Amino acid sequence: MPNDIDTVVYDVSDRIAWLRFNRPDKRNAMSPTLNRAMMAALDELEFRDDVGVLVLGGEGAAWTAGMDLKEYFRETEAEGLRGIRKSQRESYGWWRRLRWYQKPTIAMVNGWCFGGGYGPLFACDLAFAADEAKFGLSEINWGILPGGGATKVAVELLPFRKAMYHAMLGEPIDGKTAAEWGLVNESLPLASLKERVTEVAKVLIGKNPVALKATKDAIRRVCVMTYDEAEDYLVRAQEAANSFDNHGRREGIRQFIDEKSYKPGLGAYDKDRNAG
Ligand code: COA
Repeated sequence: MPNDIDTVVYDVSDRIAWLRFNRPDKRNAMSPTLNRAMMAALDELEFRDDVGVLVLGGEGAAWTAGMDLKEYFRETEAEGLRGIRKSQRESYGWWRRLRWYQKPTIAMVNGWCFGGGYGPLFACDLAFAADEAKFGLSEINWGILPGGGATKVAVELLPFRKAMYHAMLGEPIDGKTAAEWGLVNESLPLASLKERVTEVAKVLIGKNPVALKATKDAIRRVCVMTYDEAEDYLVRAQEAANSFDNHGRREGIRQFIDEKSYKPGLGAYDKDRNAG
């Protein structure tokens, strides 16, 4: 049974949590209500034993048309600085939560993805788009700079000239172009999108979850470190992961070296077997 938290819906099947923006009539624009519902849903799903991967999708024609110009901007501005800062905390808060989420996360971009939508897009570890989707830093078209982290996302994911063009021109690009530019991992026809995302999610579910969390955090952390800092961080991060799950690593070595049942270069060890 789908669990409905109003502007956000989710259901869990075969260890995949399918979480969706659910304001299709408003192209899934992120209102303060939706932002609060997203945080609640992420909270509910994060440590469930029956969830191995979280997929963020959108109901209807949009993934998300960005911040709600009426409810997020106009109405909170009417409440003064207190209202503005509150709604910023709520939106940035769930994106940050998603960036460092316990489970691997996949953005499944089915349609429109504008402006503030780049926050959750970047927050997801992987991203797959429909060829039919449209991505844009539309802020310039209505008279602001790409805030709420969107400019940072553009420079993190795109080469300098492309980031500058994307932000200054405000022209939407389709899913295929988004994949060529590196905004998403892959683009494919909408009709095949869910099947491909399911396939990727299943591969992730087959891997050691402690190692996955350590790996995704390491990729984000080392981006801003020198080589020596990264080397040091990675030694310590692996040692910390070992204290949570030293057994998994030993079992992985055993299945390769002693049992010769798999090759780590070609796939994962069988984490459901345990020689003790
Ligand atoms: N904020 C508030 N409302 C929005 C919205 C947003 N970001 N995006 C869409 N909506 C609302 C529209 O106002 C409209 O409401 P109404 O039915 O009460 O009039 C409804 O959603 C449908 O939008 P519409 O523009 O008719 O849909 P469309 O399919 O023709 O176009 C978009 C879709 C996404 C191209 C268009 O809605 C759009 O440009 N939205 C703004 C995108 C944007 O700049 N976002 C950045 C914010 S940071």
